[in-house]
Amino acid sequence: MVTIKDVAKSANVSIATVSRLIRNDGFISEELKKRINEAIKELDYKPNLVARSLKLRKSNTIGLIFPDIENPFFISLIKKAEEVAYENGYSVILGNTENNPEKEKLYLEVFKGKLVDGYIIITSFSDKNYISESLKDEKVIYVDRSLGIDGETCIKLDNKKGIKLALEYLISLNHKKIGIINVPTNITTGKERYEGYKQILRKNNIEIDENIIKFAGFSAESSLEKTKELLELKNRPTAILPTSNLTTVGALMAINELNLKIPEDISIIGFDELDWSILLNPPLTTIKQPAYRFGEIGIKTLLKKIGGKKLKNKTIVLKPEIIIRKSCRKIN
Ligand code: RIB
Repeated sequence: MVTIKDVAKSANVSIATVSRLIRNDGFISEELKKRINEAIKELDYKPNLVARSLKLRKSNTIGLIFPDIENPFFISLIKKAEEVAYENGYSVILGNTENNPEKEKLYLEVFKGKLVDGYIIITSFSDKNYISESLKDEKVIYVDRSLGIDGETCIKLDNKKGIKLALEYLISLNHKKIGIINVPTNITTGKERYEGYKQILRKNNIEIDENIIKFAGFSAESSLEKTKELLELKNRPTAILPTSNLTTVGALMAINELNLKIPEDISIIGFDELDWSILLNPPLTTIKQPAYRFGEIGIKTLLKKIGGKKLKNKTIVLKPEIIIRKSCRKIN
């Protein structure tokens, strides 16, 4: 195997000069650059990035662990994260856990073995203690879902605000019987959205009816079943609020399966804007999250940590917005 030593000998320069050229670190005359590049080409030299990582403890790679590669919210987040990382000279290695805690643990070990310089984690909550112990000496940013450990840096949505925007809009249309199809509350997004739901109803003196509170899994199929339970109630809600993009898809599937009309028979507000929200008939009112901003701020915050910069805030809260379209109506 051709080594950096062979290149230096062939170009008649020191190993340090060849290394400086490879790392683009410091001045080298055009003449020397030319000689070294010719030697690299002639010998077909490939720098040993693993050896370099070990020596410099720097691989210019970031490990991004997330729960679902088919989920549009995570796709947007990852796309922007990768773009910003690339602009800053970093590569991103993806670990898709499929909401499987065992896979999350596997990726933590795989990425440690690959000497990534830092982690972006959208956790599936394998084991809080395991994760914090495993990453105690690493640079980590939690995104979307807080792990809930001391000293963590987290970028999250103001989940309660998202629910507040949806409920207050429905209440303004005289809805009082508003069903919720929530994501699991073992993740902080589900927990905070559920808390927000109860808080806003109480604040508006609306009774909390446990019969119209449903908990789905992460899939559209689980939301389909739970939404049908809601809509088949004798005294069904006049409006429903699924609390994620896939629960919204499941809710729409249920409305369709039961041949109900939006908004005549049922009003609905989706959570997480989807590209096709506006294409539905009628176009869907949604609570939009800044998915791209999660990716951008996640990487930029991690790069600050990697660079040893002090972070002003440990928790960065992003704001949701309501996109009002035509899937809700005023009732008497
Ligand atoms: O399925 C995507 C949802 O789960 C989003 O609302 C995001 O907050 C994630 O937690």
